[in-house]
Amino acid sequence: MQANVTLMSWALALQLLLLLATTTPRSAATLVYIVKLKGHAPLSGHPHAFNTQGKLDLHSHGSLAYSAFLSSLHDSVLQESLDVGSYEKLYSYTVLLNAFAVKLQHRMQVETLEEHGSVGSIEEDKRFNKATTYTPEFLGLAGGAWNVRKGSVRDAGRGTVVGVLDTGIDPSHPSFSPHGFKLPRRWRGACPPSSASFCNGKIVIARHFSKGIIAANAFNSTYDYDSPVDGDGHGTHTSSIAVGNYEVPVNVSGYNYGLASGMAPQARLAVYKVIYRDGGYLSDVLAGIDQAIQDGVHILSISLGSTSSASGVPFLNSFDVALLFAVKAGALVVHAAGNNGPSPMTMNSFGPWLLSVGATTTDRSYANPVILGNRQEFIGSGLSAGTPGGRLYALVYAKDAFIEQATNTFDTDYYSYCPDAQAFNRSIVKGKILICNFMQIFTGGAGTEINDAIATAKNLSAVGLLIISPDTEPSQQKSPVLDPSPFSIPATFITDPDASLIILDYYNHYTERDEYKKVTHFGASAWIKDSRMPTFYAEAPEVAYFSSRGPVYANTATLMQSDVLKPDILAPGNQIWGGWTPSGIDANGYKGERFAMLSGTSMAAPHIAGIAALLKHKHQKWSNAAIRSALLTTASQVDNRGRFIRAHQPSGNTSVSIGWASPFDYGSGFVNATAAMDPGLIFDVGFQDYINFLCTLPGADANSVEEATGGICQDRPGDRSSDLNLPSITVGNLIGTRKVKRAVTSVSKRNERYEVQIHAPKGVQVFVEPMMFTVSNGQQKTFTVTLKTMKANQAFTFGSLLWIGSKGHVVRMPLAVSASFMSA
Ligand SMILES: *[C@@H]1O[C@H](CO)[C@@H](O)[C@H](O)[C@H]1NC(C)=O
Ligand SMILES: *[C@@H]1O[C@H](CO)[C@@H](O)[C@H](O)[C@H]1NC(C)=O
Ligand SMILES: *[C@@H]1O[C@H](CO)[C@@H](O)[C@H](O)[C@H]1NC(C)=O
Ligand SMILES: *[C@@H]1O[C@H](CO)[C@@H](O)[C@H](O)[C@H]1NC(C)=O
Ligand SMILES: *[C@@H]1O[C@H](CO)[C@@H](O)[C@H](O)[C@H]1NC(C)=O
Ligand SMILES: *[C@@H]1O[C@H](CO)[C@@H](O)[C@H](O)[C@H]1NC(C)=O
Repeated sequence: MQANVTLMSWALALQLLLLLATTTPRSAATLVYIVKLKGHAPLSGHPHAFNTQGKLDLHSHGSLAYSAFLSSLHDSVLQESLDVGSYEKLYSYTVLLNAFAVKLQHRMQVETLEEHGSVGSIEEDKRFNKATTYTPEFLGLAGGAWNVRKGSVRDAGRGTVVGVLDTGIDPSHPSFSPHGFKLPRRWRGACPPSSASFCNGKIVIARHFSKGIIAANAFNSTYDYDSPVDGDGHGTHTSSIAVGNYEVPVNVSGYNYGLASGMAPQARLAVYKVIYRDGGYLSDVLAGIDQAIQDGVHILSISLGSTSSASGVPFLNSFDVALLFAVKAGALVVHAAGNNGPSPMTMNSFGPWLLSVGATTTDRSYANPVILGNRQEFIGSGLSAGTPGGRLYALVYAKDAFIEQATNTFDTDYYSYCPDAQAFNRSIVKGKILICNFMQIFTGGAGTEINDAIATAKNLSAVGLLIISPDTEPSQQKSPVLDPSPFSIPATFITDPDASLIILDYYNHYTERDEYKKVTHFGASAWIKDSRMPTFYAEAPEVAYFSSRGPVYANTATLMQSDVLKPDILAPGNQIWGGWTPSGIDANGYKGERFAMLSGTSMAAPHIAGIAALLKHKHQKWSNAAIRSALLTTASQVDNRGRFIRAHQPSGNTSVSIGWASPFDYGSGFVNATAAMDPGLIFDVGFQDYINFLCTLPGADANSVEEATGGICQDRPGDRSSDLNLPSITVGNLIGTRKVKRAVTSVSKRNERYEVQIHAPKGVQVFVEPMMFTVSNGQQKTFTVTLKTMKANQAFTFGSLLWIGSKGHVVRMPLAVSASFMSA
């Protein structure tokens, strides 16, 4: 799609509040608990889930019978422990976990349940929140990943089903209009009769899960739907980024902003509504994941996360563990990194089995300039038409436009924000550009305030509106980016206090007044330019301010750093056009519209989900770890100027500070879909490898791993968590020397000779053995990387290994090492 900025101002906080919907739950205690039983769900190794060839079959007679058995077991645990009528079972989870969600009457009942011999652990239900598209062009899909087969976008992602866990879908949206293809072979789900009207071939399933939010008394039927219908907009937006149809016109307020295409326009959509306008609950989210796996989705795209920070071993929280089983079942799981940046250690996504996606800017920017009569130009925010005729119009400041009795009747400071028209003299404002103050004084936030000022300017027949922020307090100037929202009259929003004061000085200089300060001549003038056409010059990608950053703890109790690099990868997530639902009110200025421009890692994750669908289509036989590996080893570390990627970083003032990014900002780098199609080598990982990884974490013993996952730790002396076969090496606590093992498999048709190029992190010596090998299709090669402390940095330093292939492949592995002590 055409149509992106990095307007530096303080108001991103507002946008993030909207995206993350941080409404506080109505009642703190929901009395909903998730109870895990001892013994395993089918996927935790029970034989019934696997057919005679050892393949997973959740729809076999044995599997279904076992699920029914577990569900009745849950009922009997409840019956044996609690009085009839004193509880309500909300869900039985029988695929990913052997667990149920129950609503109790009293907190005391938890103790009674704990005494039951079958109960393993009990966890209180947790709150979850919601964490284009010019981007196909920015990502080079048209000439690359979309073309790989028959030179046509008509194949892009065909035969894959992307499951989106979000706020539901607007089923009538043009981005999801019907497709006539047969359903893919692996697909097992059936459209439930209750939502038959959603299933049009493009949308292959639509389900919703609301028992948890209803039990928590947090569902509000005046503005949300107890159905898969999207009452928010977020789910329609993320779904359209992943799989939206090809070239759908983005028409907003009667203006065409270009054409939007999802990353994989031929992939199908499976909708799992688990979160609502005000957020949602873990119990519903787990139910959605459990069902998505039973339905057989190939890829899960998840743009939501827990609102509480991880404690204990973050990799063992229920959400990440459920997703481990989703991965075991064969789904690729793509998860938004979180919007808690730019400080370090702000990740909301942990498991090394997940693809955790951070957000970047793109080269597109929208600017909304105003030019003063003295030719000075100021850049504001917003999308609007220009003042007519390309000429100057007189400026009138709100405080000079009140009716005569206003000074006695109205609070004129308050009315300088233009909240409504009654204090103003229409004959003064008519035909001029009205200047209103901005300050966040209403609980409705900036959106409400701007909408009110626009309504006032329209009511008074102003020709345009200039919103200035002369009074903004430094404490409010924290965030650097403001998403432009559409204005229904020529208008611009100047968020910089210094620019606002210059504009006021200019106005006062040219405005003539009599001895009573009453204006006798409005001599200041301005011209607001049309701001709906973007430019494409910005240096990009840059890691967006809000994007969550690594590293992640192995254990929050010991403050030990983990041996996992997070985030994994970057994709566009700043000012992204995507589908919207007309009833959505979350984003300012898009009420009634079918498209909206939003920012967040919520928008980045579905880019990767869609690109993964392209890979899945091209390489049907690849494991999800192979797809993950292909995306990571081919990611790019340079921007469109050929410089290393930079990141928006914390700064104490309005200006955003930009500096070199580290792998804890970008993981492996920015996605390159074209290169991922042909990675040369892949790093494969199986379920037991993840269990072995968990078993070697500091503070996690065989019992806790078995309790959380049902997995059995293998006794493999000398194994470290850094030995998990990831396409990166992270060592959170290097003491002396460590040897790290890796294995690669060739996915290239031709024999190829690879030679390693070592870029050692500062203070660490790196040896690789062997330093070269020749590999043929399907063949595996192992190598050892020895890291030796030369200097105790007590902080992470970074490097990389590049395996350079004789046939043009370059397989890159980032290195992140924190060396604690000198080697002996
Ligand atoms: C639901 O939302 C409406 C509109 O915002 C509000 O007036 C009402 O009080 C809410 N209901 C509950 C139960 O919170
Ligand atoms: C979108 O806008 C363009 C240009 O203004 C117009 O030609 C087209 O008909 C509109 N499309 C829709 C679906 O409204
Ligand atoms: C509005 O402004 C006009 C022109 O300055 C003036 O003649 C008129 O008295 C004003 N009306 C009120 C109600 O202040
Ligand atoms: C303009 O504002 C006045 C005062 O708030 C209101 O009475 C009137 O209905 C508004 N007119 C329009 C056309 O919105
Ligand atoms: C803002 O902070 C940065 C570094 O943190 C500094 O370089 C810059 O001068 C500051 N700007 C203002 C306007 O104080
Ligand atoms: C992406 O990969 C392709 C193929 O390897 C390469 O030609 C292109 O330069 C890469 N693009 C970027 C931005 O790194």
